[in-house]
Amino acid sequence: MGRPAPAPSTELNFELYFVTEVLGLRSLHYGYWDEPRTSERIDLEEMKGAQARFTERLLEHVPPAAKSVLDVGAGIGDNARALARRGHHVTALSPDRNHESYFAALDAPNVTFERTCFEAFESTERFDLVLFSESHRYFDRRFGLRRAHELLRPGGHLLVSGMFRYEDEGAFPTGFDVTDLPYLRMAAECDFRPIGIVDITPNVLPTIEMIDRGIVEILEPTLRFAQTWAETRSPWKTKLFRMLLSREDRELTRVLKKLRRKTDPARFRERFRYATLLLEALPGA
Ligand SMILES: C[S@@+](CC[C@H](N)C(=O)[O-])C[C@H]1O[C@@H](n2cnc3c(N)ncnc32)[C@H](O)[C@@H]1O
Repeated sequence: MGRPAPAPSTELNFELYFVTEVLGLRSLHYGYWDEPRTSERIDLEEMKGAQARFTERLLEHVPPAAKSVLDVGAGIGDNARALARRGHHVTALSPDRNHESYFAALDAPNVTFERTCFEAFESTERFDLVLFSESHRYFDRRFGLRRAHELLRPGGHLLVSGMFRYEDEGAFPTGFDVTDLPYLRMAAECDFRPIGIVDITPNVLPTIEMIDRGIVEILEPTLRFAQTWAETRSPWKTKLFRMLLSREDRELTRVLKKLRRKTDPARFRERFRYATLLLEALPGA
């Protein structure tokens, strides 16, 4: 038998795995604080409450007439479950095998899960609402907007909540207004009309600060501990192992570096805006 083909990169995302399996959070999106705060330390219990609040605030944007919802990049199902509890019928999709197991355990008859990426998703159904909750950056943005438009019934809605930045990752000017986001221009080109735009950057910012601390105070020391333990117990095997896995070792260093950059609170404040956008699908040209 030949070597199995390498898993596609979306099969298991280690950043998301860290959030659920190491930090033990039961949601993959940011937390939401009604009163923005930054200085105090937030513990994991408070974070769980803030993530539940994020879902509540997100669902306030769902048009009440929307019966069928396509939840694209559905994570571990907390938004889908909350939507189902409010009577919506949810088709949830995510390519991550770890997420599939969460949906298998989800006791929600109105939720159907499909393990696929958006690019490969096929359906003849036309949905009332397509939801991108912190998922629009996982695929090409223009593709995402066009495909969402195709999958919506005329007059249906696309609800996008997530981080936005300039292509070159440059800083936003002081006083930047999210109605000027390049993503909204692209959405207009794809026949969407904005009907609700809210900048929630200050409301979600404590999440970044908490994750940054999770990396510095939990992930990095745990990796150092595992390394020291292995080196002390079996120095030769560890050397051999590192030689055999040198590519993976470099990859891990790269991923950690990227993660640290991404979760640097000062950099986030400067270069990211977190917004919730409700867009209506206009008849295509
Ligand atoms: C940050 S999580 C957000 C999860 C969830 N929507 C939430 O708000 O908690 C991003 C999700 O997008 C999924 N994803 C990654 N690549 C994708 C793709 N190409 N198509 C669809 N979903 C994708 C991930 O597996 C994950 O479920």
